[in-house]
Amino acid sequence: MSSRTMVAGNWKMNTTPAEGERLAQDIMETVGTPATKVVFGVPSIQLMSIKALTDKHENYFVAAQNMHHEDGGAYTGELSAAMLAAVEIDYVILGHSERRDYFGEEDGLIGMKVAKALAAGIKPIYCCGEKLDIREAGNHEHVVGKQIEQALFSLSPQQMKDVVIAYEPVWAIGTGVTASPEQAQQMHAFIRGIIARQFGDAIAEDTTILYGGSVKPGNAAELFEQPDVDGGLVGGASLKADGFAEIIKAR
Ligand code: 13P
Repeated sequence: MSSRTMVAGNWKMNTTPAEGERLAQDIMETVGTPATKVVFGVPSIQLMSIKALTDKHENYFVAAQNMHHEDGGAYTGELSAAMLAAVEIDYVILGHSERRDYFGEEDGLIGMKVAKALAAGIKPIYCCGEKLDIREAGNHEHVVGKQIEQALFSLSPQQMKDVVIAYEPVWAIGTGVTASPEQAQQMHAFIRGIIARQFGDAIAEDTTILYGGSVKPGNAAELFEQPDVDGGLVGGASLKADGFAEIIKAR
């Protein structure tokens, strides 16, 4: 069980390089060696500087927040998997709801990114989650199931071993409203079930499934206690060293 635990921060478009270095340093000093993997999802311009810091500390890793699906070429403003791999970035967050909503990313495209990341040796953190109207209509499992099927089911079982799934209900992201521990557990168990049916029980049992959406120091422990909630993908609360340290310690 413990090998699948993780607490990841998604800094989004926040922090200057100096602020990011301070934040990472403060977290690592406060926590010391964590009992779980800790990932900093940093702005692109900080990938190398934060990587240099985390390399000196056990159990800390760096994630990019996005990546292009092509190998290279005329794609102004984009980063390729090979570029991330060349500087030994460990993880890449793919399919975040903000990428889906503001940049029109859909499961087919995200699936291509997942495959490219894996081919380059970078572990994808694949984000899925339903909007409020879908939850209210009772279609959340159907929608999340489809997201996972479309982006991940063409992978081989061997590839699936390197995929982290983050369930982030869109109605809980940045809203202060958190899914209840029961709602999170129910969806995580559902996700693990479909991974088991497609890739087998052993792989499903080893898959890290994170919860994201208004995780805070005050609610992290009750979420992480759920048997299928392996940790969190944390936005706003990952930007305060003390609070994020508390969340790490809750895992
Ligand atoms: P908040 O923790 O700010 O709700 O953001 C969650 C998120 O989007 C992490 O990727």
